[in-house]
Amino acid sequence: MKAQILSILRGSAEAVSGESIGTRLGVSRVAIFKQIGKLRELGYNIVSTPSGYQLRYEPDTLFPWAFPGREDRMHYFPETGSTMELARKLAREGCPSLTVVTADIQTRGRGRLDRLWQSEEGGLYFTVVTRPRLTPDACHQVIFVASWIVAFLLSEMYAIDARLKWPNDVLVQGKKIAGMLSEIEAESDQVLYVNIGIGINMNNDVSGVTSPATSVKTILGSRVSRRDFFAGFLDALEKHLGKEDFFGVLSRWKHMSDTLHRPVRIVTLKETIEGVAEDIDADGALVVRQKSGKSRRIVYGDCFHA
Ligand code: BTN
Repeated sequence: MKAQILSILRGSAEAVSGESIGTRLGVSRVAIFKQIGKLRELGYNIVSTPSGYQLRYEPDTLFPWAFPGREDRMHYFPETGSTMELARKLAREGCPSLTVVTADIQTRGRGRLDRLWQSEEGGLYFTVVTRPRLTPDACHQVIFVASWIVAFLLSEMYAIDARLKWPNDVLVQGKKIAGMLSEIEAESDQVLYVNIGIGINMNNDVSGVTSPATSVKTILGSRVSRRDFFAGFLDALEKHLGKEDFFGVLSRWKHMSDTLHRPVRIVTLKETIEGVAEDIDADGALVVRQKSGKSRRIVYGDCFHA
């Protein structure tokens, strides 16, 4: 009911009476009064005027009802260990595609290669469960789509010159602004789920992060709405996953890439490969031309720009 009340208040420049909200939702004026009280406790500034209620301010909290149409699939926590854990549990229990777990703070945020992902207040941390109709060897497509959307939205919404570093970091002037990882479960040729965990430095303080990092707030000099960015991301992800146009996305990904055509050093578990990044192939592998003239396809590793 909170989502419906907020949607009525958002959609009206004038105050709306409790009576008329109640009639539209088929409940009593008293029920509306109680819900308004709860919303105020959660930080919404809803003023009472002689002609009814008026919404003056919405907190930037990722409550399910802040995402109309997605409420049933949004799981919000003020604090959790890692959103990856609950998302895995929900995925194994059969939750629908585009179920999301998000938290304001993570106490055990996980990065790629078992690193820690610092997850302080102000950042956007979430895991999306997807159920693509892909074979297991094509699942990298989902994370390429997701990383391109993050970079694209940073540039569209805030005019930030976001660039992509293979395999899926988002950088601004060489500093990391977002990172992501994926978790896949499949049975023979059938993918059960691809969970994508994304951390974006939005309004959080990155001064304590050891590797070079930046945030939207540092770049713009003011806080931004995490909700608006998140809603834009989920809409775009839904649209692009449905379209199944991976090659279109890959070409846009390459266009925003910071890795291609520059000297790179790739560290894998077994070796270090140096050369010039030439291409990203249809499997998401980085093609590196080595000094010897030989090309190498690299599927997994830590990429450093020289
Ligand atoms: C990386 O660049 O190393 C990947 C960072 C991924 C961080 C996100 S935050 C939300 C989700 N939960 C986690 O524990 N990790 C991912």
